[in-house]
Amino acid sequence: MKLKDTGLTAQELKKIINQYMVETYERYDFIAERAEGMYLYDEEGNAYLDFYGGVAVNSPGNRNKKVIEAIKEQLQDIVHTFNYPYTIPQALLAKKICDTIGMDKIFYQNSGTEANECMIKMARKYGVDNYGPERYHIITAKNGFHGRTYGAMSATGQTDNAVQNGFKPMLPGFSYAEYNNLEDFTSKVTKNTIAIMIEPVQGEGGVHPATQEFMEGLRKLCDDNDMLLLFDEVQTGWGRTGAPMAYMGYGVKPDMVSMAKAMGGGMPVGACCTSSKIAMSFGAGAHGSTYGGNPLACAAGYASISEILDRDLSGNAKEMGEYMKQELSKLPHVKEARGRGLLVGCEYDLPIAEEIKHECLERMALITAIGDSINRMIPPLIVTKKQIDELMIIMRDSIRAAAERYTELRKAG
Ligand SMILES: Cc1ncc(COP(=O)(O)O)c(C=O)c1O
Repeated sequence: MKLKDTGLTAQELKKIINQYMVETYERYDFIAERAEGMYLYDEEGNAYLDFYGGVAVNSPGNRNKKVIEAIKEQLQDIVHTFNYPYTIPQALLAKKICDTIGMDKIFYQNSGTEANECMIKMARKYGVDNYGPERYHIITAKNGFHGRTYGAMSATGQTDNAVQNGFKPMLPGFSYAEYNNLEDFTSKVTKNTIAIMIEPVQGEGGVHPATQEFMEGLRKLCDDNDMLLLFDEVQTGWGRTGAPMAYMGYGVKPDMVSMAKAMGGGMPVGACCTSSKIAMSFGAGAHGSTYGGNPLACAAGYASISEILDRDLSGNAKEMGEYMKQELSKLPHVKEARGRGLLVGCEYDLPIAEEIKHECLERMALITAIGDSINRMIPPLIVTKKQIDELMIIMRDSIRAAAERYTELRKAG
């Protein structure tokens, strides 16, 4: 729908949002009316270079043609049904995902946080069924992020900020260890621990990739102690880090993996995959979802994943990610450019990340800020060198403007 079709002005539309919506988001001052490929267009047709990707969702490109076609085609047949009849999109997507990533079983959900709820529930049920009622504890990483529902929020190792503050008590049975510190994880294992759960690259926590040794060490730790290794690949999954799943790039297979975001190419989908043995702990009635496995969402998911695989977008993510890091490290005030594939973080020697984000917005580019001093770039995986070069020019000017203002403010006291 276009703004002109509503009979409202831009100001009137924004006023409605501000008046009627419970706001937890800091709004950008434009209306995202249309999207295509690497660009988002406002109500006046101005193009924004999109290095935000709908928060790492639009991996095959904004409004990818194959995804749109699949949605249109599915609309002709069935949009939604209950989960008792067999449906065609569910079947095709399940086989595609499991065969590609080497898992036996999938459970469909609607979002990343739900995919993690499913993974946490299944791990706990597996522990209780196989080892007794106390075996439900899960160790996760400090500074991790797993979602906003209670299980995922409890798993999130950020215990003193907006994620958990005001919502305590969290679920019992979670403890937090330092990311990339195998010793710390080892020290937290007790006879009640059933699983370790981490992101292969901490995204919201500041873009910190796991080291190879850490991944291999966790696998061994779990094997030695009859524990399950759970990877949250909601952000890293489906091509972003240069492999279909980040764990495939590390060569370290988890017992369970959660996914969402890119999986749906813009439709709200999520899932948890595991082995046949672990999946046995979910019998009739153990878990469910009205919309999980919705035919429209699964049709979009099949098209999105096919695009990512058929066009080797993970290969492009790997190449473009390296290029972006190399170019970012040449910019002023950059302390470190890091990440894996197209999950890229840029850390500065000044606390100016928010200001840089806003300066980029003024210059028609969308990037994200994490904390005071890190910007994160998570573009669609179709991004080209030329578009990265364009962003670098915008970022150079934005960093300079933000740093100057910071220095002036400091001088003014
Ligand atoms: C690693 C990770 N897990 C879980 C989530 C939650 O996903 P959703 O917002 O779809 O619930 C996110 C969202 O950014 C994420 O990055």
